[in-house]
Amino acid sequence: MYLLIPAAGSGKRMGHDRNKVLLPLLGQPIFAWTLLAAEAATSIQWIGIMGQPIDFPDFQACIDTLPLTKPVQLIIGGSTRQESVYNGLQALPPEAEQVLIHDCARCLATPDLFDRATLALQTQLGLIAAVTVKDTIKVVDGDLLVQNTPDRANLWAAQTPQGFSVKQLKDCHERGLTEGWEVTDDAALFERCGLPVHILPGEETNLKVTTPVDLAIAEFILRQRQNQ
Ligand code: CTP
Ligand code: MG
Repeated sequence: MYLLIPAAGSGKRMGHDRNKVLLPLLGQPIFAWTLLAAEAATSIQWIGIMGQPIDFPDFQACIDTLPLTKPVQLIIGGSTRQESVYNGLQALPPEAEQVLIHDCARCLATPDLFDRATLALQTQLGLIAAVTVKDTIKVVDGDLLVQNTPDRANLWAAQTPQGFSVKQLKDCHERGLTEGWEVTDDAALFERCGLPVHILPGEETNLKVTTPVDLAIAEFILRQRQNQ
């Protein structure tokens, strides 16, 4: 399986002056934790990482310190996550028929989650890791007035990895570009094109490190794992 890792953001909500994936988490950058999980996932054979060129020296230095056996390619990302994935898809080796896309900021995803995604893709065109939501979700208008309350039983929080057939996902990205669709995950493009997206049971600990609180929670979870 081919894996693309979007890492070309700047981490604005983290409030630091550098890309959050380079921030330390229990002794090594977030970036390293994500790569080590991908390395440990037996079904992954190739890793592409989309980043901003300014971060490439730090990415490469980190890669050089890790015991990686799989080929890792750095790919120039774009100004949105959507653009970064687009660039990643163009950089896939031509023989890649299926791809997993996994946010670098989700550094707690386990190797097992990647392997389950690979297995499920054998029979599915598109899938996303997701978990049921715990909160009651409100739809709110611009005046902060609640419009309605969707039934929580039908609500799932999307995570990554997300997996797709390469040909179909490339077509969806091209169509998104032509029609000006702006989305925050790849499944949304697949859905708009009328293609099926299946749910793969995700992991409650597979949080996206977005704010300083997430970093503290991630550290706690990693410590727990190390103690087990
Ligand atoms: N990402 C990317 N290219 C972009 C923007 C984001 O590859 N132009 C990546 C991020 O590096 C991250 C993932 O997409 O691994 C999910 O995005 P998010 O959590 O929003 O990260 P940032 O965009 O960096 O953070 P923020 O939105 O707070 O600025
Ligand atoms: Mg962002």
